[in-house]
Amino acid sequence: MFEIVEKKDLHETICLIKVTAGLIASKALPGQFVLIRIDEKGERIPLTIVDARDGLLTLIFQKVGKTTVHLGTLSKGDSLADVVGPLGKPSEIKKYGTVVCIGGGIGIAEEYPVARAFKEAGNYCISIIGARTKSLLILEDEMRAASDELLITTDDGSYGVKGLVIDELRKIIDRGKPISLVMAVGPVVMMKAVAEVTRPYGIKTLVSLNSIMVDGTGMCGACRVSVGGKTKFACVDGPDFDAHEVDFDLMIGRLKMYLADEKRSLEEFTKKQAVHS
Ligand SMILES: Cc1cc2nc3c(=O)[nH]c(=O)nc-3n(C[C@H](O)[C@H](O)[C@H](O)COP(=O)(O)OP(=O)(O)OC[C@H]3O[C@@H](n4cnc5c(N)ncnc54)[C@H](O)[C@@H]3O)c2cc1C
Ligand code: FES
Repeated sequence: MFEIVEKKDLHETICLIKVTAGLIASKALPGQFVLIRIDEKGERIPLTIVDARDGLLTLIFQKVGKTTVHLGTLSKGDSLADVVGPLGKPSEIKKYGTVVCIGGGIGIAEEYPVARAFKEAGNYCISIIGARTKSLLILEDEMRAASDELLITTDDGSYGVKGLVIDELRKIIDRGKPISLVMAVGPVVMMKAVAEVTRPYGIKTLVSLNSIMVDGTGMCGACRVSVGGKTKFACVDGPDFDAHEVDFDLMIGRLKMYLADEKRSLEEFTKKQAVHS
C-alpha cells in the first residue's frame, strides 16, 4: 500500500504529500517521476519525485483537473492504489560550471531536486523562481538552500521583482559571466520563452516536458513530442530535452487536445463531491 503519511497545503490549489514507497524511494534520482493512480478506476498521472528519503516520496501537485483535485481531497492515512516508478531518464547531473535553474509556478517543485543536485555536484547554481503572485510561490527556502543565488519574480509584483523569469535570465546573461547550462521547468509557454532567450547566445538549455502521459513505458504514444524533427516519447526518452530542438507549438496543441473531456470530467467529479458532502 502507498500510504499518505503527511499532507500539507502549500496554497489553496497546491498540496504536498509524503507517500510510503520504499523501493521507489531507494532508486529515485533527480529529474525522475512516478505515475500514480488514486484508485482502480482512476487515471494515471505523472508527478515529479521532489524528494526521496527514509522510504518516503515527496510529491507536490497543483489542482488543475479531476485527478489532481481528487488527490487534494485525500488525507493523512489514505492510500494510493498505484505508484509506479521511478520513471524517465534522470537529469544529467555533473559539474558544468555556472548553471541557471528556472522554475515557474508548480515547475519550481520539479526544478528543486535538480537544482539541489547541481549544487551538490559543485556547480555555481543561480536559481530564478517565479509565480503569478506571492501566495503561489512555493519552496522559496528550499530553493534558497539549493542555490548560490536566488532571484524571485512575480507577474503582479507582489513579491520579488515584478516581471517574468526570463527578464531575470536576460539580466544574468548581460552580466557577461559564462553560463554553462540553463535548465527550465514550468508552463510550456515559459519554457518556450526561455529557449528563445538563450538561443542567440548558444547557451545549452534543457527543459523538462510535462506532456500528457498514460502508460509511462513508451508503448502508448500519448506523450509524444517532436525534438529536432524526430518523434520522441517524453516518458522514456525524457522528460529532459534540448530546449532549442523542441517543437513547443506542437506540444501546446497536444496539451489542449482533451480540454473538453477534462472539463466535463472535473465538473462531474465536483458535482459528485457536492452530493456526498
Ligand atoms: C514528467 C511529468 C512530471 C510532472 N510533475 C508534476 C508535478 O510534480 N506537480 C504537478 O502539479 N504536476 C506535474 N505534472 C503535470 C501533471 O501530471 C498534470 O497536471 C496532471 O496530469 C493533470 O491531471 P488532472 O486530471 O488533474 O487534470 P486534467 O483534467 O488532465 O487537466 C486539467 C487542465 O490542466 C491541463 N493539463 C493537463 N496535463 C497537463 C500537463 N502535463 N501540463 C500542463 N497542463 C496540463 C489541461 O490542459 C487542462 O487545462 C507533471 C507532468 C509530467 C509529464
Ligand atoms: S506515456 Fe505512453 S508512451 Fe509515454
